[in-house]
Amino acid sequence: MKPEPRFWAVIPAAGVGSRMRADRPKQYLPLAGRTVIEQTLDIFLRHPRIAGVVVAVSHDDAYFPSLCPTADKPLKVVDGGAERCHSVLNALRGLKALAQPDDWVLVHDAARPCLSDEDLEGLIQALGDDPVGGILATPVRDTKKRATPDGRIAATVDRSDLWRAFTPQMFRLDALAGALEKALNDGFMVTDEASALEHAGQSPRLVEGSAENIKITRPEDLRLAEFYLAERKRASTTRNET
Ligand code: C5P
Repeated sequence: MKPEPRFWAVIPAAGVGSRMRADRPKQYLPLAGRTVIEQTLDIFLRHPRIAGVVVAVSHDDAYFPSLCPTADKPLKVVDGGAERCHSVLNALRGLKALAQPDDWVLVHDAARPCLSDEDLEGLIQALGDDPVGGILATPVRDTKKRATPDGRIAATVDRSDLWRAFTPQMFRLDALAGALEKALNDGFMVTDEASALEHAGQSPRLVEGSAENIKITRPEDLRLAEFYLAERKRASTTRNET
């Protein structure tokens, strides 16, 4: 009998995060008593459904070796690449030594430390039997405008079928690696894993998640992330006390 597919996490963490204007890549900035990347890694390292984690860091990264993530499962570190998609592809190649071709991979940005356990579990539950896979996302709630080059409104865009794409993005290991390789060979601009699958003719599922799953991009995002994590800690302390 074929073994049940397992779930693995791939964390691209090789970006420089220049929009933070900080003295170090944004994943190494402090957040709620640890670094951003430690908060992110911890979500996957302590989740019982995740078999192991591969993280892609820059080849000259001086920060990662000083972290001490607690792991009772495989935690593999590989070199990142020039763009996020190259970092992900390197991590998938590293994962092939541990995983089966049909295993699921959840690719999640190191810069999204506010993913909740509920959303992670919800994604796995929603997609476990899906033939393609999919992503966490939220419907667009603000009115959308298309701009002219001189910063005026050209048109109001219908938002009724628009979604904001988040991570994790969950696909089968071989299918995702193949789609990324094909997209890169075709010179297709890969913005996220789903776009590579779309380029290969697939239609990944949208699974609604919380808008709190923000990507740290600007200094104010860190303050918001700090607030979300503190709120969650307060809620879990209250739950444990009652
Ligand atoms: O730059 P951006 O915030 O969109 O990056 C999203 C994630 O991809 C971050 O966690 C970043 O570290 C990672 N990344 C990467 N390799 C790159 C560029 C970005 O792993 N070359």
